[in-house]
Amino acid sequence: MSKTERSSRAESTQLPIHQHGEKLVGAVKGSQFLVVTGETGSGKTTQLPQFLYRAGLCRDGKIGVTQPRRVAAITVAQRVCQEMGVRLGVEVGYQVRFDDCTSKDTLIKYVTDGCMLREILADPNLTQYSVVILDEVHERSLNTDVLLGLLKKTSGGSRGRTVPLKVVVMSATLQTDKLSAFLGHCPVFTIPGRTYPVKELFCGRIGPKEMDSSVYVKEVVKVALDVHTNEASGDILVFLTGQNEIEKACDLLFEKAESIDYRYDVHDRTVEGLLVLPLYGSMPTDQQKQIFQPAPEGVRKCVVATNIAATSLTIDGIKYIVDSGFVKQLNHNSRVGLDILEVVPISKSEAQQRAGRAGRTSAGKCFRIYSKEFWENCMPEYTTPEIQRTSLTSVVLTLKCLGVHDVIRFPYLDRPEERFLLTALKQLYQYDAIDRKGNVTRLGKLMVEFPLPPGLTRALLQSAALGCEELMLPVAAMLSVENIFIRPGHPEKQKEAEIIHKELAASAGSSNDFLILLCIFEKCKASENPSSWCKDHWIHWRAVKSAFSVETQLREILFHLKRQKEFPQETFEGSSSELLRHCLCIGYFTNVARRSMGKAFCTMDGHGSTVHVHPSSSLFGQEAQLDWIIFHDVLVTSRVYVRTVCPIRYDWVKDLLPKLHEIDVYELSSVAREEVTDEEMAQWVKKTTAKRQTGPGEDVSR
Ligand code: CDP
Ligand code: MG
Repeated sequence: MSKTERSSRAESTQLPIHQHGEKLVGAVKGSQFLVVTGETGSGKTTQLPQFLYRAGLCRDGKIGVTQPRRVAAITVAQRVCQEMGVRLGVEVGYQVRFDDCTSKDTLIKYVTDGCMLREILADPNLTQYSVVILDEVHERSLNTDVLLGLLKKTSGGSRGRTVPLKVVVMSATLQTDKLSAFLGHCPVFTIPGRTYPVKELFCGRIGPKEMDSSVYVKEVVKVALDVHTNEASGDILVFLTGQNEIEKACDLLFEKAESIDYRYDVHDRTVEGLLVLPLYGSMPTDQQKQIFQPAPEGVRKCVVATNIAATSLTIDGIKYIVDSGFVKQLNHNSRVGLDILEVVPISKSEAQQRAGRAGRTSAGKCFRIYSKEFWENCMPEYTTPEIQRTSLTSVVLTLKCLGVHDVIRFPYLDRPEERFLLTALKQLYQYDAIDRKGNVTRLGKLMVEFPLPPGLTRALLQSAALGCEELMLPVAAMLSVENIFIRPGHPEKQKEAEIIHKELAASAGSSNDFLILLCIFEKCKASENPSSWCKDHWIHWRAVKSAFSVETQLREILFHLKRQKEFPQETFEGSSSELLRHCLCIGYFTNVARRSMGKAFCTMDGHGSTVHVHPSSSLFGQEAQLDWIIFHDVLVTSRVYVRTVCPIRYDWVKDLLPKLHEIDVYELSSVAREEVTDEEMAQWVKKTTAKRQTGPGEDVSR
């Protein structure tokens, strides 16, 4: 056993949960459902699965632990391997979208909630598992909420199982009574643990009117530096919103910390240096590991993180919190009728959770950069569950494929508004995934197999029907990874990058952002040394590399489906650029806009919103020559911008546009209310298909 293994095992036995191991195992054995709660960092995620493993609960199947965030699934699996002294991917493994690190011998499996939903599609009774632990339930992610309803619903039947599945629901100390009541008043096990007082201070640098990210990034940097120069030893954890803001803050911190004159300015001489570390979802995992290592002597660690550090990951040694008061959140925007990732103030309960991270092992301090007025007027009491604020299209399709016909009366912990369910049904109808009676169509059953947003899946399936998937597979893969274009901070370098990106766009032959992605994918793949090709072209090699792997996986799914199922076939006359655009139209006709005045476009989905082409698009500046466009996503700042844009012909969407208005949602909703018998449900379940390895959309930037 290595030194790190020994030390991490020794550390883990100090955790409060260890005194309660036996009782906890007994509680799991004694009840089909169990709610486990305890302060964050008490050892729920890393220790409970090990207790159950040692108590022999793996004899009848695996232990599955779901996580809303992919980074948490990966890092926690790594940690547990280290503690158990086993190899990652063998006894202990993880599975996240497009990355399966498990084997047939895996007994403890950390998996994203999206992947677990996919497993239920393939095997509704989860016959491979003896215990499923739904972790981080208080986060109320869309997929975890749906899993909760499904596991509650299917627990009665144990078809294909010898012993009933045990379900453990873990949550920070929030809403545990509600969870227990939802699961038939099941027992609640509370892990006693102590926390130390955290002094909460309002710095008043952000008032109710300041929402601009350039403001709060600068302010958190100032406060963090104040903490570094004025406070006694102890590490700092800064909460920010996303990758861009975090990288900006880290650059600023690094620059400023270098220029501090330590002889005069620093109050506590034992912490002269500052080690600045970013932490966000799409970071490479080896860099993430660094976060958990203690800083060298005389150095203070300052981690700048997204909300991921609020509950999913616990970093030891944190004594100071700097809270920006904001979070990046996916919200349904009724103004444009689309889901948009936006920066919003956190809730008061979230702010308390963030502050609590400073008081795990000793008393701490939390510096809130905002004012008391901001706290009172801008921050809601609680965070709205994701199921009540985002698009339900993928989830409703999954439920329908699982035989849950009545999606309106499905057991939700918190019911989404009916209009959101109706919108999801309407979209599925528009994509031909369900029929007028609300039944899943043949196409819908193909669509559910892809871990992509429904529109993109629809475009991909159209390309397969036309035999031109070689065009769409790389595009779908490139749209599924983080941003591939490097935009350097330095103005001169930025210019250089812009010129090279423009040249790349020109070499694609026509102004179409999707085609440019395809072109970059192909050029990089064909080059002798792809990583240096990326470097020369200011492209993120890591992102393109993941796109290569995603493309292979999508290709495999398509290949299997083509062999297993009857596949539609169609014809289309045109060049390959036209073919690609036609396929995109089939998937994105809900995102069609027509130029109205000057550079403005008007969407056609009934919202009639005014949108503009984003400056990052290759079509920016050419608006006057355009008439109809489709777009992949939307960014809302002072204006509504569309990104990844493609010009199209009206002819290609002419027959599709009426679909945006033709269906009466109440017709769909009345059928959605029809009861189905258990028999019918079982039939649906039987019909759903082979095992898939991947999960639905996951936001990697969180
Ligand atoms: O799930 P809960 O918040 O109750 O705690 P946990 O995630 O199991 O964390 C227990 C301990 O393991 C904490 O002290 C963490 O710092 C440590 N840990 C770690 O060092 N590295 C990880 N990748 C995960 C946890
Ligand atoms: Mg946990």
